[in-house]
Amino acid sequence: MCGIVGYTGFRNAAEVLLDGLRHLEYRGYDSAGIALAGEGPLYVAKTQGKLSALDALLKQNPPPVCGCGIGHTRWATHGAPSDQNSHPHSGRRVTLVHNGIIENYAQLKLFLEKAGRSFSSETDSEVLAQLLDHHYHGDPLEAIRCTLAEVRGSYALAILFEDQPGKIFAARRESPLIVGYGEGEQFVASDIPALLKYTRSYSVLDEGEMAVLENRRVQVFNAFGQPVEKQRLTAEWDMEAAEKGGYPHFMLKEIHEQADALRATVEPRVRGGLPFLDEDGISDELLRRTRQVVLVGCGTAMHAGMVGRQAIESLARIPAHTDIASEFRYRDPLVGPDDLVVIVSQSGETLDTLAALKLAREKGAFTLAVVNVVGSSIARAADAVLYTHAGPEIAVASTKAYSVQLAALYLVALRLALVRRAQSEEAVRGLTEALRGIPALQRPILEECSRVKYLASRYMNSSSLFFMGRQMDYALALEGSLKLKEISYIHSEAYAAGELKHGTISLIEQGTPVVAIATQRHIYEKTLSNVKEARTRGARVLFVCKESAEVPAEVADDVLRLPECDDLLMPLLAILPLQLFAYYMSVLRGCDVDKPRNLAKSVTVE
Ligand code: AGP
Repeated sequence: MCGIVGYTGFRNAAEVLLDGLRHLEYRGYDSAGIALAGEGPLYVAKTQGKLSALDALLKQNPPPVCGCGIGHTRWATHGAPSDQNSHPHSGRRVTLVHNGIIENYAQLKLFLEKAGRSFSSETDSEVLAQLLDHHYHGDPLEAIRCTLAEVRGSYALAILFEDQPGKIFAARRESPLIVGYGEGEQFVASDIPALLKYTRSYSVLDEGEMAVLENRRVQVFNAFGQPVEKQRLTAEWDMEAAEKGGYPHFMLKEIHEQADALRATVEPRVRGGLPFLDEDGISDELLRRTRQVVLVGCGTAMHAGMVGRQAIESLARIPAHTDIASEFRYRDPLVGPDDLVVIVSQSGETLDTLAALKLAREKGAFTLAVVNVVGSSIARAADAVLYTHAGPEIAVASTKAYSVQLAALYLVALRLALVRRAQSEEAVRGLTEALRGIPALQRPILEECSRVKYLASRYMNSSSLFFMGRQMDYALALEGSLKLKEISYIHSEAYAAGELKHGTISLIEQGTPVVAIATQRHIYEKTLSNVKEARTRGARVLFVCKESAEVPAEVADDVLRLPECDDLLMPLLAILPLQLFAYYMSVLRGCDVDKPRNLAKSVTVE
């Protein structure tokens, strides 16, 4: 999604803005621009395309050297990607960058047109700029307040006023925005990586807050204009964590970081060989009285929830369900007091997931956020937060965040099982130990990634693939399929293995590639039969199973074997070759691995 950077201080603002925007590239974008407040009128440069196009434009039309400006990368919502629709957008004395969506922009535009204003873009953001200019009579905060009172929708804003040199004004509702503190310089940004090179000290703006940044101070006000004292946070991530560190792509680096991320997420929560969640705000009392668990998220996070659901059901013997956040939020779900709603999100900013959380809270359920980004909107809105410790995930395709989400959900399942006495202490201890042993089992899979690369080369020219598996393997099939299609642009579908014969098997013909996942002992034979059904009809099968599995020769064309561990934990191992398979397919097909087309890292619109 769109990225925002603002800077005021002693450095060359254009350079700081471009550098900050580069660190937000991973969010996905289709155009970019900056505005600078030097001497005289505001300088604006913007263009469709990547930052290299903006760089070229700045070379043709050199920007003034000055210390204050705002920058933006746009992910199109209202109006196609084009130079005109790129940000910043201006009114007569005002220039702004905007993340989010103004829902009533059409009405506001009509009003402004009647008042004699004309527009040069199709965007809702330009309407905001013109409305702000309409309300501006010398008091910027008053103008911002009046404007935002008339606006419906979501926004994170960084604004320059022509007659307020050296100052940046900021405001947010629903879309995330942080301010960063330096010595004689201040920053505003939509995400931490944009600031890391200059400062680790930051505050998260809360709903409805506004900020004024000058080189020596930052003032924050609530929606009524009263000053607010902000808590300062320190970003734990350093620059190195947000760089590729010798890997050709962030995705590959992040796949390899999974063992460390898993350790960082699990170890602090194990005491005396047992899992504890009290320090995360999850009391045993709460777990004891929980009637059902509902796990909600989008995309990969939802797929993690599907594995978590099965772990909770089979270990804690309590009803558990998963739901897609965008469905959950609009269907008046049956959740209430004594229900535990687990909200899963890497970014903590996904709009549908945040809305699902708010709804669950309204209905009286206890909301537990499993989130990677500290201080994110979802983390702050939930009753309790179980932070995953994956570090920054930059590639659009989620990999290490998925593994740590699984780890967090296994910990919840194990604690539930323990306090509800659904499993013996010995059994929980054994599984906790097995979970702690997973990073060591992941290593050899990652070290032997050349085998997966070779297999990817054999399947890279396929136009469509199927993934199949049962139960936890079905959840994995969904994730493997999503990973493949999002970064390689190859069509693929995932099926519960037993479901294939109810329609989809008609698509299987000679040579149709099928990735079959069979890691669960109690249903191994069943999956095997389903694979045979597909193979008999011509499927070319890549079979993923445990080291010890007996694989009849007539079942598979290629076999990928995984180290042995408890069936329940197998997703933590089986996901690795699926991620690597998608990665190499994407590389071999020459795709933009880290920034696939049309996608954004943090989906802050509906
Ligand atoms: C995963 O590869 C995707 N990029 C996407 O499905 C992602 O998991 C989803 O948008 C949810 O994001 P979140 O975890 O930040 O909420």
